[in-house]
Amino acid sequence: MENNRVTVVTGGLSGIGKGTVMELAKRGYTTVIFDIQDEKADDVIAEANSIGGKTYYRHCNLFDSKEIIESFQYVKDTFGKLDCAFNNAGFGILPKSFEEVTEDEIDKELGILVKCHMICTIEEIKMMKENGFGRIVYTTSGAGLLGSTGMALYNACKHAIVGLTKGVALDMAKQNITVNAVAPGTIETELVAPYKETAPEIYAQWAASNPAGRLGMPWEIGRVVAFLFEEDSSFINGTVIPVDSGFCAGK
Ligand SMILES: NC(=O)c1ccc[n+]([C@@H]2O[C@H](COP(=O)([O-])OP(=O)(O)OC[C@H]3O[C@@H](n4cnc5c(N)ncnc54)[C@H](O)[C@@H]3O)[C@@H](O)[C@H]2O)c1
Repeated sequence: MENNRVTVVTGGLSGIGKGTVMELAKRGYTTVIFDIQDEKADDVIAEANSIGGKTYYRHCNLFDSKEIIESFQYVKDTFGKLDCAFNNAGFGILPKSFEEVTEDEIDKELGILVKCHMICTIEEIKMMKENGFGRIVYTTSGAGLLGSTGMALYNACKHAIVGLTKGVALDMAKQNITVNAVAPGTIETELVAPYKETAPEIYAQWAASNPAGRLGMPWEIGRVVAFLFEEDSSFINGTVIPVDSGFCAGK
């Protein structure tokens, strides 16, 4: 498929990011993955390019704002433009009551779930404005729409992404740049899949907590991101789309 669009996917070497890289590859995108797991890059690139992608890897530690800025400069120098961005990288901490949360954990979660996405967005907007076109999508979570016990820090960070989505969407509304977020339910990523064998009772609980009785798959998020990246998705702006088979719809 002929596609001249250039996109960045943060955290694209695993899980939801990788699933999205594959959906973009099928659609012929030029995708630059920002991630830190260098050892995985060759395999992900080979898989994506075998299904139609033009996929590249840039080592970028998202805790380091200088590395982020340099990585976007690399995209500009190499490809001349940026059309789309999926700001997705992240990790959580184990559930705990909020008084047990440490300052170090607060810094880490704000760093990887909020601050780096803000720094990325600033660089993305600069390039997209020059370009006269842009599509930005964030990964929030059901935890960005609802509270959950033991998850206050993660809840706060993911709610911040919902606020960022809405605010930046309004800032960009006249620029042909749309800004939206996906809110995945529990997704069967590389971290979760082994539980099927090693802790089937935990895996079964996660599946049972979803209205469909199963976990989501990374490609089911990737397809929504690919849809939001389309030129014709132009009037969808400032929205958060739950991709959770109804989990956030209520009991
Ligand atoms: N898996 C789920 O069930 C689920 C549900 C809702 C939301 N999310 C969100 O989806 C996003 C992706 O999660 P996932 O489950 O696919 O996780 P994952 O661990 O499979 O993938 C995360 C990727 O981010 C990268 N990353 C982590 N720290 C980084 C850093 N400092 N610099 C650059 N890259 C870094 C990792 O190397 C990895 O490739 C996260 O924001 C997470 O909060 C996940």
